Amino acid sequence: MDKIIICGGRPLHGEVEIGGSKNDAVAIMAATLLIPGKTVLHRVPRISDVDTLLEILRHLGATTRFREDGALEIDASQLNTCEAPQDLVRQMRASFNILGALLTRFGRASVAMPGGCNIGARPVNFHIKGLEELGAKLQLHHGVYHGEVRRFRGANIYLEFPSAGATQHLMLAAACAEGRTIIENCAAEPEIVNLAAFLNACGAQIHGAGTPTIEIDGVPELHPTEFHIIPDRLQAGTYAVAAAITGGDVFIRNARPEDCRPVLAKLRETGTEVQEYPDGVRVRRVTERILPTDIKTMPHPGFPTDMQQVFASLLTIADGVSLITETVYESRFRYTTELERLGAHIVVEGRTAKITGVPALTAAPVTCTDLRGGAALVVAALVADGATEIDGLHHIDRGYEDLVPRLRQLGAAITRTQDANGGLRVCSV
Ligand code: EPU
Repeated sequence: MDKIIICGGRPLHGEVEIGGSKNDAVAIMAATLLIPGKTVLHRVPRISDVDTLLEILRHLGATTRFREDGALEIDASQLNTCEAPQDLVRQMRASFNILGALLTRFGRASVAMPGGCNIGARPVNFHIKGLEELGAKLQLHHGVYHGEVRRFRGANIYLEFPSAGATQHLMLAAACAEGRTIIENCAAEPEIVNLAAFLNACGAQIHGAGTPTIEIDGVPELHPTEFHIIPDRLQAGTYAVAAAITGGDVFIRNARPEDCRPVLAKLRETGTEVQEYPDGVRVRRVTERILPTDIKTMPHPGFPTDMQQVFASLLTIADGVSLITETVYESRFRYTTELERLGAHIVVEGRTAKITGVPALTAAPVTCTDLRGGAALVVAALVADGATEIDGLHHIDRGYEDLVPRLRQLGAAITRTQDANGGLRVCSV
């Protein structure tokens, strides 16, 4: 079993380039099923969630290919089944959006309830209710949704929570519906804005993405296009926190400051200097100790739930007490037990984690509990005294492209190995 081994204590310095966003790539890849023709996507990250979704698309009959220049071609002209492979759909969350796309293409579809990180119940009731409001008839049998629709019909949909996935799913289902759809209280993340931009580049008529209300005028069909995935704001945030926790100085190329604003604002509160440039962000710690701060996760543009875990690592060595309140998911604190193995003092009560900063962390064997929880362990290990061994790497592989080489390039003593003695080697780098 692979392990990441990190010998903590080296400040990160230099430049790191951020690749494409996982959550943008998977949303747009699912949407390509709407399009009879060859879509070309640039900056798709090479991560396991992308591989899983590509396997699903191929099972449905699409042809896919990474070109030599790194661009991904998806040709969904000839789909041959509307039944998604259950075992693959259950491995990730965004695969569920293919239900709306297949219903558009075939008038019927079968897609299992999705999987994804174990961070809460994560039901799909908003997706189902919205698709039904657009005219689909859906039934759940043995964990698989079976649906039928003649053609989606525009509708007024109110989401009781601004769900990113439901907003994306309903946007793509409404793209070729008959008439106008209005989605209220929708999510406003940069990945929503870019999915709308992608669909519009394919001929859709979507307005208001990035605001709480999106209007979609259905068009008869979409055409293929060539399009760029946005840089990953969560990877950018992870490197920014890694620079801060190690007392380093890192330029994060491609990070879009406007997408990272809540995280950058909180970083400044911890005594970190953040400089914003058109082509990236420079992060440099300017205080001796990290200053404590409180965080409450919120739908965009609030502080992203996906960054609370990595940020918690930073606060474990702050000079005082910090509170993190998680309002989006009901159980996204499982990683805190692993951080405690490294010497962190964290008490979780309900949806709040109280972190009492300690002067230093110490290395220990730890296990990733989920994708961002895994990244939190990597970030903490960068400052833990000794060699930290991290296993459960399949979680990190789902969303972080080339994490180990990129951190090594910034000066971290980090390696990925199957070898029990790898820790000795990395500490003597
Ligand atoms: N929710 C419902 N019913 C629904 C849909 C959502 O109750 O039908 C609830 C969820 O249980 C959760 C809240 O609404 O409590 C927000 O969920 P949302 O639908 O916004 O999340 P998602 O679309 O499943 C995406 C990202 C997550 C990220 C969230 C929130 C993808 C593939 N996943 O999930 O990313 O945490 O939005 O921003 O886009 C990650 O990258 O590590 C990750 C988990």
